[in-house]
Amino acid sequence: MVIYYSASGNTRFIAEQLAELLDDKCLDLKDRIRSGDNSKLCSKKPFIICSPVYVCEMPRFVSYHLKHTKFCGNRNVYFVFTSGGYAGMSGSLAKRIVKNKKMIYKGHAEIKMPSNHVVSNMYPPTEHDECVKRINAAVKEVKKLAKIVRNEGEFKARHVFLYEKMVILPFNPFWAKYMQPTKGFFTTDKCIGCGLCQKSCPINNIKIVDKHPVWINKQCAHCMACILNCPFEAIEYADITQKKEKYNIKKYLRSGEIDI
Ligand SMILES: Cc1cc2nc3c(=O)[nH]c(=O)nc-3n(C[C@H](O)[C@H](O)[C@H](O)COP(=O)(O)O)c2cc1C
Repeated sequence: MVIYYSASGNTRFIAEQLAELLDDKCLDLKDRIRSGDNSKLCSKKPFIICSPVYVCEMPRFVSYHLKHTKFCGNRNVYFVFTSGGYAGMSGSLAKRIVKNKKMIYKGHAEIKMPSNHVVSNMYPPTEHDECVKRINAAVKEVKKLAKIVRNEGEFKARHVFLYEKMVILPFNPFWAKYMQPTKGFFTTDKCIGCGLCQKSCPINNIKIVDKHPVWINKQCAHCMACILNCPFEAIEYADITQKKEKYNIKKYLRSGEIDI
């Protein structure tokens, strides 16, 4: 069973491709995470868990969900992380979750995809041609990964050095607590109050008040699901996003530039 969380479609695309190649089921975790549904997941085939990388690790709402969900059937677990190029500690944290469940960790793969962190001033958005290049390279990479799973092999990823862990471990909780405020989100007059942003928020952090979204400052993960799934591109963040492309892989899949 291939399971995934995805905000702007990169990870969904990888998960769906894998499921198709392996003739397996594909499950979106979003609604389970939103409703706190930790019911058991059972599969005869290995579990392949696909997730984006947020600040050098798996999103905390994803790791929390995985920790609290029981898995039955096949004991093998593979992870696939999509990132803008640096997955940091994602693999080691995934391994710990699997070991604690007394399941078999079959390694993790890192796939470089376009960056979707549109509210960040630190990383420039990935240019159009580079997005096409990365997505096309990912299509090839997924075929290799599917072959490894079919042969019951292991995924291999780069070694993460101790100095990287020493930087990431204290930095990440600080970032999660202080660097993801919601006060910058606002809607423009393109907003028609459709409520899609509310439904796309994995942690129920958006209320609709008078037909407009209001962001509660609960524990926003800055996942970008609200801003990058708005069909009217009516959500902006402070003065950072107005001139940036609102990345969503759908635009690229429709463009005819991806060789699936
Ligand atoms: C809050 C946040 C933090 C991110 N942190 C990283 C990171 O540490 N390293 C990286 O390479 N990419 C990072 N990214 C980029 C995403 O991991 C990447 O674009 C991913 O493929 C998005 O997947 P999705 O489209 O399935 O949501 C971050 C994105 C967000 C929204």
